[in-house]
Amino acid sequence: KRDMTPYEAIGGEHMISDLVEAFYKRVGNHPDLAPIFPDDLTETARKQKQFLTQYLGGPSDYTNEHGHPMLRARHLPFEITPARAKAWLSCMSDAMDEVGLNGMLRTQIFHRLTLTAQHMVNTPDEEG
Ligand code: HEM
Repeated sequence: KRDMTPYEAIGGEHMISDLVEAFYKRVGNHPDLAPIFPDDLTETARKQKQFLTQYLGGPSDYTNEHGHPMLRARHLPFEITPARAKAWLSCMSDAMDEVGLNGMLRTQIFHRLTLTAQHMVNTPDEEG
């Protein structure tokens, strides 16, 4: 029998949905992040649920609807600075706290998200 995927281990669709809602609530209120996101985050959250589902080993929901993620390319229209990557990760960490995603799995998932966030950076922080 195969091992559980991280998607299954954290609680599947239900946990992903709660996590993503808690995350975008923070993104929408963050002074460095809100300006580059749409006012209505419904569609953004829907895509992120699809993406995280497959990122964590669940069904390929994102690719089935949108094709290859090409995440870095999809972020090129936005100025992703190191400060914004830090802010993104801080919103995610707080969201994980809110939904009670704890333990070794949280640490592993957060570590992976940290690498992915760093990979999205395409603009230096402003000087001064
Ligand atoms: C889309 C910002 C990191 C996954 C977006 C959008 C922005 C953004 C502005 C467009 C939202 C929209 O128009 O609906 C950022 C910033 C990041 C970051 C500032 C900081 C590093 C990440 C990471 C992931 C991710 C680490 C994955 C784990 C996505 C996905 C979309 C998206 C799946 C939707 C792409 C699509 O349009 O199909 N992000 N992002 N982002 N982001 Fe990020």
